Amino acid sequence: MCGIVGVVGDDFKVSDVVESLKRLEYRGYDSAGIAYVKDGKIKVFKSVGRIDVLKENLRDRLEDEISAGIAHTRWATHGAPNDTNAHPHTDCTGKIAVVHNGIIENFRELKALLEGLGHKFRSDTDTEVIAHIIEEEYTGDVFEAVMKAIRKLDGAYAIGVVHSDHPDVIVAARKGSPLVVGIGDGFSLIASDITPMLRYTKNFIFLEDGDVALLEDGNVRIFRIDGKAIDREVRRIDLSESVAEKGGYKHFMLKEIMEGPQTLVSAMTGRIKEGFVRIPELDEIDLSNISRINVVACGTSYHAAMFFKYFVEQHTDVDVSVEVASEFRYRRPHVDDKTLTLAISQSGETADTLESVRLAKRLGSNIVAITNVVGSTITREADISIMMNSGPEIGVAATKTYVAQLTVLALLGLQLIKDRGFWSGRHKRILDNLIRMPELFENVLSFSNDIRSVAKKYVNFGHFMYIGRGYGYITAMEGALKLKEISYIHAEAYPAGELKHGPIALLDENFPVFAISPSDSLYLKTKSNMIECKARNARIISVGTFGNDELSDLSDDVLSVPRVADELYPLVMAPIIQLFAYHMADLKGYDPDKPRNLAKSVTVE
Ligand code: F6R
Repeated sequence: MCGIVGVVGDDFKVSDVVESLKRLEYRGYDSAGIAYVKDGKIKVFKSVGRIDVLKENLRDRLEDEISAGIAHTRWATHGAPNDTNAHPHTDCTGKIAVVHNGIIENFRELKALLEGLGHKFRSDTDTEVIAHIIEEEYTGDVFEAVMKAIRKLDGAYAIGVVHSDHPDVIVAARKGSPLVVGIGDGFSLIASDITPMLRYTKNFIFLEDGDVALLEDGNVRIFRIDGKAIDREVRRIDLSESVAEKGGYKHFMLKEIMEGPQTLVSAMTGRIKEGFVRIPELDEIDLSNISRINVVACGTSYHAAMFFKYFVEQHTDVDVSVEVASEFRYRRPHVDDKTLTLAISQSGETADTLESVRLAKRLGSNIVAITNVVGSTITREADISIMMNSGPEIGVAATKTYVAQLTVLALLGLQLIKDRGFWSGRHKRILDNLIRMPELFENVLSFSNDIRSVAKKYVNFGHFMYIGRGYGYITAMEGALKLKEISYIHAEAYPAGELKHGPIALLDENFPVFAISPSDSLYLKTKSNMIECKARNARIISVGTFGNDELSDLSDDVLSVPRVADELYPLVMAPIIQLFAYHMADLKGYDPDKPRNLAKSVTVE
């Protein structure tokens, strides 16, 4: 939640900072602000709303040259989204400005203490205390003051600090919230992730928890919180800036759905050899020696985890338990050194998933993370990280990363099947289907306009019931989540067989059913449930397999995908549920890239 950027060097203008900040808008967008040093003074501008509102308010200053600047896009935690609570926050003198991502847990005590010392607070945020403590500690050296200040903070933070008496300096620190330093020739940068910095540099330092960075133009030094200097590896990441651009699509979400085929290829590359799966990252683990797998994840990643459970339990003797991370971390889970914990998080920064990883580790479990973000916190806490290799996902709703998760999990499942001695012709067929999936995906994506036509018919309905059985239930869960989060339409997901245990009471002509009904081993069962729904006058959109003509008798609208192995229907159907939700949101005039109340990486619990 929240995105921060900072620049220090000779050639920056206000507009550079604002444009960089826009690359992080997916992290939160209820308010935004900037502080920059110009002519030895700090100027601060903040606005409630999107970054474009801030940009408009700055229109006469965008060309101003600055020596250092920090900016922030907010997802409110403490204090309502308004101009005052927007970051940056300043101290009493107006010489110090701070941007912060995270939560300061002891801010009430600190605030009371500071007020007792005469400090005047303007906002309701936890962040403002940071500016005032730095002011309190400042005796002429801003780096020392920040260092002393952060030692007093409990909780999570990534911060950037500027001081008007030190016009060429940014001090940045990280504990629990992501922060990356970009290194250029004569300039340096900070940001919550690399995307805003790609247009300036490809050289990055991923700060570790407890690191404090001192940026003076192009000179970057890293220290630990106890003051000791430390060398951190400078990593070169050769991504082009265009990965974070829309490339002609109306929205990032649409672009990212359309990137599905490439996503599949990237997730499989280097992991299939001589007709079998071999994920090199797993070489250090003996998969034949595991008795249980415990999977923790949230949201879409949780749905991918459920796919893994169904797949692995169907084909091996390994038990797989899957739990929403926010529940797992507060229970007494039965996890030990014979349990492998799999943590799935595209961002690698989800607070509940990270806490679950820490808990499982304390209980003796080995941790394998599946993530998309190089250098993310989870990659540092896990014993092994399997990267999804999808490139940055900017749309807030997970789309291509869901596809990548399913792909990596299918590969992992296939490797387990082989390593535990269950491999058969059936598994060869699944792998063959997976290898062909990019092509099958292209085919499904080409029906985007048909999916939009179906969406047009349903855009005014206020409720949807998504149903499916087996692997179809996974698609139903993910379909309902996508629809509700970006089009704000109430959508429930139920195993089709559960309908008659209560939810069928909801159905009537105003409550359509989205039936995931591929021609798999459970098709006839799902078909019976569709007939029951029809008998309640519910309209039905079915998602089936090409060639199943009876679906048009059973349903009002039919969307179809190519035939694949039962296990892979969640993959080939992913574009259907994603495009349906996308078109519904777009038809309703909502911005699917920035759904209300949501942010891309949920770094608070
Ligand atoms: C839904 C969505 C969220 C995330 C969830 C977990 O489209 O994006 O439900 O899946 O917040 O995020 P990660 O995978 O980053 O841990």
